[in-house]
Amino acid sequence: MSLVCSTARIYADALLGKPKEFFDYDNFTPQLESSENYSITQKLGRGKYSEVFEAIHIPSKETIVLKVLKPVKKRKIKREIKILEVLRGGVNVIKLLGVINNDILNVTALVFEQINNVDFKHIYLQLSEFEIRFYLYELLKALDFCHSRGIMHRDVKPHNIMVDQKHKKLRLIDWGLAEFYHPGEEYNVRVASRYFKGPELLVDYVYYDYSLDMWSLGCMFASMIFRKEPFFNGSNNADQLVRIVKVLGTTEFSNYLLKYNIKIDLESHEKLCNHTRKKWDRFVTTENEYLVNEDAFNFLESLLRYDHLSRITAKEALQHKYFYPIISKVKHQHAVVSSTSVLSKAGHIAEIEELELSSA
Ligand SMILES: Nc1ncnc2c1ncn2[C@@H]1O[C@H](COP(=O)(O)OP(=O)(O)O)[C@@H](O)[C@H]1O
Ligand SMILES: [Mg+2]
Repeated sequence: MSLVCSTARIYADALLGKPKEFFDYDNFTPQLESSENYSITQKLGRGKYSEVFEAIHIPSKETIVLKVLKPVKKRKIKREIKILEVLRGGVNVIKLLGVINNDILNVTALVFEQINNVDFKHIYLQLSEFEIRFYLYELLKALDFCHSRGIMHRDVKPHNIMVDQKHKKLRLIDWGLAEFYHPGEEYNVRVASRYFKGPELLVDYVYYDYSLDMWSLGCMFASMIFRKEPFFNGSNNADQLVRIVKVLGTTEFSNYLLKYNIKIDLESHEKLCNHTRKKWDRFVTTENEYLVNEDAFNFLESLLRYDHLSRITAKEALQHKYFYPIISKVKHQHAVVSSTSVLSKAGHIAEIEELELSSA
């Protein structure tokens, strides 16, 4: 018997009613502008597929970010641009402002809004309890948005998240591995970065879906609350799976393989034997205990599940008890804003001031 095909539990039909142009990036030609309008000011970073610079858009004097793509397949470049266009304006998704082509150098560069360049990877192990909840909640908004538009990010990790701590802004960047989700399609399992690869990728299960991103988020979350980076520290892909099984258990892993009729080679089998499921308590130390509580454990458990179909979705996660402190703060701020406007109409200035003070 062959692999059992699974279908996303949510947004499986996101692309169903859409015209082909919406997702057909092969037949898509991006609008290009000339590079003459831009002047590079400094280098910001580099990734596997790009070099990234800060630059000025000369006509408007605006600071922007230029992602100069390394020569990769044209199809991959088209896919990244198409996806960025589909997601443009979406909550906490890095905004694509344009695409530049330099004919002489034969390179393509993507123009992005600038976000006050702090890589999440530099700060995400120093965040306070509240900040962890806050930024995760912002990230979940971006994930729910892209999933609802039929897109899986497939490379969620701290390096691909930018935050501006001063303005409490978060942006999910690097859509270079993202792909449209069509139920029943077989996807390439060579996506995501090792520490964030879901079990489905490590056992060559090709019918994965948006829930892959939720696993990656789970790995980040575990790192954040336990201050352990990376949480699953595999030295190669086979070892990555061993690290996961050592925490989530062999029996549960076998059940997963059985459910989808996944076969793995004998050599891997031996290393994966006889691991009992570990309790999350095991990772608590005096250094991280203040970040850990029942709700956090419960949320973590709903993310780090072998079975991609039973993982919590981004939409459900936004309602999770772990985020109640964030949700109630947002509600409170709305209440203050709306009562302020009602009161100001009535001219009760003093009461407004009192409200503002109490909410500060
Ligand atoms: N809009 C941006 N603002 C600030 N820094 C960015 C921005 N986009 C990318 N960077 C920096 O450049 C690095 C590489 O960009 P990324 O899109 O992740 O490319 P790659 O696909 O090569 O990994 C990021 O990890 C980050 O440090
Ligand atoms: Mg990247």
